[in-house]
Amino acid sequence: MGKNILKRIDLIFKDEADYKAVLKKAASQTNDELINELIASGLKGRGGAGFPTGLKWKLTSESKADKKYVICNADEGEPGTFKDREILTQVPHKVLTGMAICGKIIGAKEGFIYLRKEYNYLTTDLNKIIDEFHEVCKKLGLDFKIKIFLGYGAYICGEESALFESMEGKRGEPRNKPPYPSEQGYLGRPTVINNVETLAHTFTIFQYGASKFNELGVQDSYGSKLFSISGDTPIPGIYELELGMTVEDFANDFGDGDTKAVQVGGASGFCVPRKKFRETHIGYQGKLTGISLPTGGSMMLFNSSRSMFNLLTNYLEFFTEESCGQCTPCRVGTQQLLEGSRAVKRGEKPAAYLDKLLALSETMKSTSKCGLGQSVANSFQSIVENFREEMIY
Ligand SMILES: Cc1cc2nc3c(=O)[nH]c(=O)nc-3n(C[C@H](O)[C@H](O)[C@H](O)COP(=O)(O)O)c2cc1C
Ligand code: SF4
Repeated sequence: MGKNILKRIDLIFKDEADYKAVLKKAASQTNDELINELIASGLKGRGGAGFPTGLKWKLTSESKADKKYVICNADEGEPGTFKDREILTQVPHKVLTGMAICGKIIGAKEGFIYLRKEYNYLTTDLNKIIDEFHEVCKKLGLDFKIKIFLGYGAYICGEESALFESMEGKRGEPRNKPPYPSEQGYLGRPTVINNVETLAHTFTIFQYGASKFNELGVQDSYGSKLFSISGDTPIPGIYELELGMTVEDFANDFGDGDTKAVQVGGASGFCVPRKKFRETHIGYQGKLTGISLPTGGSMMLFNSSRSMFNLLTNYLEFFTEESCGQCTPCRVGTQQLLEGSRAVKRGEKPAAYLDKLLALSETMKSTSKCGLGQSVANSFQSIVENFREEMIY
């Protein structure tokens, strides 16, 4: 407990006074130079899926259209995540600068911050900062304007295509993919959509160069990441750490000495039991040995006083509530998993029924239309398989 094994990084929340210099430098560089720097950094999206950011911007820059858009995804709906709010509070200029440089590269003149409705209280300050930022852009000859769009309080609206739908005034329901946002995003135009933290990291890369970023982390999982740490920990909060750490080191630093499990990546992520702490790394699949788990940043610690059955049903209630209902595997599957788990716990169904539910979750993974339904299996399977004794009557 509190062993301080992991190095604390301070890139994101560090000084932002230089944003004008970063913008000025970027305005004088060619788009190829900027994109190559971003690609060289190895930055992958911090919203959860981990798509390479440089490639996303390059693809969108190559799409032909009369208009293009840059969207900052500040919906921050994953249970246990609270770092994007802090970035927008403490270093908003980094995000705005990342958006403006993206706009220059892809040829977009408009950007939006899709802000979680519960963060409405940030809008007055943010709007003032955006107005000043526009003046700076104008002086540098950058034709780029940013507006805030308030979300509607639904988890699914954080999914990029549902987010576009909601911005267009429609129900927040995911679209079929392809086409991807780099071809047809907001209003059917090529769109870069990035998580708040991803945009803040681009600032570091444009400020200091790719090597400052990729000297941190490990191969295929370069750089640092903000983690929202909560649950049974004496030191909850937001920490910037290198990617590639083991869950064991994480639990030693942040646990209370009795950590039974760590939920990596929120309700849609994976539950890692103590016996797998050492072999599990935080990062993207690649050269890391053992298991690699990506995360949007939510890390919840649970000690031995916690009921994993309660945890499971809490997540399933959340998914049942938040499923947009558009496709059957997710709409019906989430309910079946919840009701079935409860029936087993009450002794109304035999323990073997859990295997049917595991098979159902596997079907949901392969047949659901979007990441919500596809990822229910992550927490369901990792909790049921690792804590089966707590699921039964
Ligand atoms: C159900 C669901 C909810 C999501 N919520 C968010 C969110 O709140 N914030 C976010 O940045 N990405 C969220 N995503 C991921 C986005 O669809 C998208 O991948 C991300 O904004 C891309 O940014 P990045 O490449 O910088 O990670 C969500 C995905 C799903 C399936
Ligand atoms: S998987 Fe769930 S959230 Fe996604 S489209 Fe289908 S019903 Fe909607």
